[in-house]
Amino acid sequence: MENRHNKRRRSSGSEKAKEIEAINGLVSGKNVLITGGASGLGNAFMNHFLKHGANRITILDVDAETGKRVELSVEKSCGEKKVHFIHADVSNPEQMTAAFEEAVRLMNDIDIVINNAGILDERRWEKEIAVNIGGMVCTALLAVKYLSRDQLGHGGTLVNVSQHIDIRTTAQLPVYTATKHAIIGLSQSLASTYQYETSGIRVITLCPGLTETALTVDSPNKLLSRVMKADFVKNLEQLSIQTPYVVAQGLMSILRIGQSGSIWVVENGRTPYEVCVPNPRTLRRTYKNNFTLVETKVTTRGRPIREVCDNTRTGLMSCA
Ligand SMILES: NC(=O)c1ccc[n+]([C@@H]2O[C@H](COP(=O)([O-])OP(=O)(O)OC[C@H]3O[C@@H](n4cnc5c(N)ncnc54)[C@H](O)[C@@H]3O)[C@@H](O)[C@H]2O)c1
Repeated sequence: MENRHNKRRRSSGSEKAKEIEAINGLVSGKNVLITGGASGLGNAFMNHFLKHGANRITILDVDAETGKRVELSVEKSCGEKKVHFIHADVSNPEQMTAAFEEAVRLMNDIDIVINNAGILDERRWEKEIAVNIGGMVCTALLAVKYLSRDQLGHGGTLVNVSQHIDIRTTAQLPVYTATKHAIIGLSQSLASTYQYETSGIRVITLCPGLTETALTVDSPNKLLSRVMKADFVKNLEQLSIQTPYVVAQGLMSILRIGQSGSIWVVENGRTPYEVCVPNPRTLRRTYKNNFTLVETKVTTRGRPIREVCDNTRTGLMSCA
């Protein structure tokens, strides 16, 4: 008699095979553009797209040496020019415009854009904002132009890489966290502005948890102040770190099922899960106490500030 264990193993094996088949169906023959594709997560994404049969892949990166090396190594192993490297800084709109034009010239068209390049350097926070917000916005807008059915494309998928959204784990990274939260706003707005039905663009946000890349290895030395280092390292030690491979594997599953506007977390090396953006109505704080509305005499630029204050029990105050 067949034991239940074997049966379960066999059915999960066949489910996995079915999933791989579905991912292959989705990625096979597609042209992909990945920013920051020379190393770290971007490079793991590239390898997974290759594995699942992507037609051509363009990687954009500031690291010319590594980018060229990756291009050559794929050429050697695949025997053909599957991967193109373009030297570009995502925070430079002229370079990015030229890079997208070149990518289209090389691949004919673009089906999937992975908006991934980012840095962590709180000491150079202006640069951090320029790359993580400026660069990601620039990439996203170019992706819309080249993917959108009503512009130069025929539809496709845009994946914006944010970060794990639990602020407790990034308390010592205020600027980096701000930039990554901005990406959620960017994705949500694009998903509703460029409706999938008309533009054909599916916008997905990927939020990886702590992942072993150069970005994380260097992070303790990139804080705003040295005083924060001990707490930051203590925080990191409490988290389990995953490999870029697992995140890339997760992204493939997300591409299979993720709807436009969805936000996905891949953490602790586990399968991805979807999260929802908080709804202001359900989040609205209501106090059981009786509030009294107080018109204060304080003014800013001539305008009175109204305060709702519970002066009976808790003394809590908030501006109305
Ligand atoms: N590693 C993590 O734990 C983690 C967690 C959540 C989110 N992320 C995000 O994932 C993305 C990739 O991070 P990673 O961990 O692979 O980092 P990484 O440093 O290992 O790789 C980043 C790649 O982007 C390139 N790059 C940097 N600045 C660039 C620019 N201005 N223009 C073009 N390319 C540029 C780098 O040369 C590098 O190849 C980032 O957006 C990061 O914020 C990382």
